This record gives sequence, structure tokens and C-alpha cells, in this order.
Amino acid sequence: MSLRFTHPYISSAELDSVRRVIESGVTGGDGPFTLSAASRLTEMLDAAHVAIVSSGTDAAELAGIVADFGPGDEVIVPSYQFPSAGLSVALRGATPVFVDVDPRNGNIDVEQARAAVTSNTRAITFVNYAGVSADTATIRQIANQHDLIVIEDNCHSLGGTHAGEPMGRCGDLVLHSFHASKNIACGEGGALVVNNPKFTERTEIAREKGTNRNRFLRGEVDRYTWVDVGSNYLPSDVQGAMLDSQLADYDIIQGRRMSAWASMNGGISEWAANSGVSVMDAGVGNNHTAHLLFVLMPNQTQQRALIEHLSSHGVPSATHFQPLHSSEAGERRGRAFDSGENSTAFASRIVRLPMHANLEPADVDLIIDSVTSFEVRA
Ligand SMILES: Cc1ncc(COP(=O)(O)O)c(C=O)c1O
Repeated sequence: MSLRFTHPYISSAELDSVRRVIESGVTGGDGPFTLSAASRLTEMLDAAHVAIVSSGTDAAELAGIVADFGPGDEVIVPSYQFPSAGLSVALRGATPVFVDVDPRNGNIDVEQARAAVTSNTRAITFVNYAGVSADTATIRQIANQHDLIVIEDNCHSLGGTHAGEPMGRCGDLVLHSFHASKNIACGEGGALVVNNPKFTERTEIAREKGTNRNRFLRGEVDRYTWVDVGSNYLPSDVQGAMLDSQLADYDIIQGRRMSAWASMNGGISEWAANSGVSVMDAGVGNNHTAHLLFVLMPNQTQQRALIEHLSSHGVPSATHFQPLHSSEAGERRGRAFDSGENSTAFASRIVRLPMHANLEPADVDLIIDSVTSFEVRA
């Protein structure tokens, strides 16, 4: 089989669980597997509440409803981010204000975030990019000073730690994705993790079509009814079954990813140092999650040339986010705090290498040989 860019790890437990759901005929939302997955995440993240949803984008959209963003509100969003970060704000009629990122690791530039706060700012959003923590201490400090909600995108970083703390503990509301490309994958899936319990009830209601169905299921009311805005964010228990098994296999999956990451990182570091290329900076005091392994090429011409070179050796590779501040919707629906030059440069220099739990030693060797046989031209 040809080398894949991403490829979810699947054990017989995943197949067995999915079969059991289908055979039981109980395939709707919040079935036994989805509830089990929610409990696993609650324990793993020491969360006040975990809402399993159908995607990371759903988690962002749900967070926008729960935070009650509306017209006139501003929400700080790093420009180098996945589109749903801007989309979820614009959907509420609020304005995403795009700030730049740290040129070393693609994480939010916290001093720009601080400078971008106005009397209309309601929230700071940020991502722990590539499994590496953003400067969460400063983000929390800015938020506390200005009474802002923090929405943390931890889609790349489930189970990572920073300064001894689990990642995903900074945000009042935290987004996770279980898309097929993520470390824990169920095809399409996600979670909104609530760390600040004041948002728990709104999360339950908004996720359940704006109803108090969860209170009804707990026997607190004798029927459920429409109480607020929301939508249907529940995945089927078929997805829940795959998710639950993946979470049970977390240590196996992470062990395999970390081992491939460390071998590839070791194998390309000398070439990178001699070629003016930066390899992903995992930071100090981080247990990153081996979600991505990327290099930053000197410029866009070399970015394209490396991708073509790798492709000719049978190695798929890719760029990543395109800056939101200069995107079509970002320009129309948002506001750029400044030029966003680091976001633009990061997007035009990054090359992501294949990274998943199914990489075999021969794949890793092929990737290393293919990368190190590329001659960077100044
Ligand atoms: C950082 C980040 N946030 C959010 C998302 C959206 O997740 P989903 O594809 O599950 O909607 C992604 C998807 O790739 C992502 O990388």
C-alpha cells in the first residue's frame, strides 16, 4: 500500500464496538458508547462537563452560541487558524478580529492579542497548534484582566501537557476534533469541553436542539420543551462506538505516533540545520502530542519544490492553514488587527510530513531519505 499522509489507527475493538451498535439497533445520539466516551474525556481532562458533538467545527459553533456572541461583539482569533474559528464567530453576527502568530511555532502572538482588546471584545480564542501549547498563562491573565471568555482549540493536543499541566485546561470552553486526520479519530466527531461550570447548562441545552431534554432524561422535569437557541449537535452512537474504542486505545496510538515522530525528527534534524530549514519547535516543558511533524522552508518557492520532490519519491506532504485575515470571508466578515505577516509567512513556508500511528519503520526511512535528499536552494 502506498504511503499515506494520515491514516487512523484501527484495532479489532473499534470494529467490534461499531458492529455491536449496528446490531443493537440503538444508533441514535447519546447511546452507551457516546456516554462512555464522554466519561473517559471528563476523567482524562478533569472537566466540569463534556459534550460530544459531530465535529470540531460543531464544537466551535456550539461554543459561539454558549458564549452568546452577537452583533457588535469582537472576538480575537489568530489569523493562522482553521476557518471554523472565524466562521463560528461570524455565524453569531459577531466580528472576528485577527491577530498574528509567533513565527517559531504558529501559536497566537499573545502581546498582539493583548493590544487588540477593545471595549467590545468578548473573548479570546486560540489553538495549541500541532500539539504544542500556546502561552496559556498570558492568555488567562489577559482574559481575567478584561473579563473575557477564553475559547481554547485543543483539536491537535488531546492528552498533551505543558509545564506539568494537561493541555486544554486554560479555556472556559475547549474544542476537540475527532476527524479522521486527528490522533483520536471517529471519521467525523468532536467535543466541547466545559471547564467553567457556569456554561454547563447552556451547553446541554444548545446541543439538544435548544431543549431541556437533558433535564428530562435526569428526571428533573416531566417533559422536555424548547427553552433557548441551539441545534442538533449529537453524533450517532456508531461514531460514539469508534470514538470510545479509540479513547481506550489512546496510549497505544500515542506511543506509535511519538515513536515515528522522534525517529523522523532525529533523521531530518542535521539536514535541516545545514539547509536553513527549521524543524517544528516542540518547545520547552511540553509533552507534545505528535499530531504533526512539519518543517519551515526558507520561502514559498522552496516549500513548493520540497512538496514536489517528496511526491516524486512517493511521499505525500502538504501545506496547512491559509491566513484568515486575508481570506475572502475573513476580509468581508472580520477585521485584521495588523498586517498578519507572520501568519502569511508561516503558511507559505510550512511543509507537513506524513504523521500517523500506522507508519512502519520502512515508511519512516523513506520519509527521512526523501526529505534529506532535497537540496535547498537559497
Ligand atoms: C485546529 C483545528 N480546529 C478545528 C478544526 C475543525 O475540526 P473538524 O474537521 O472536526 O470540524 C480543525 C480541523 O482540521 C483543526 O485543525
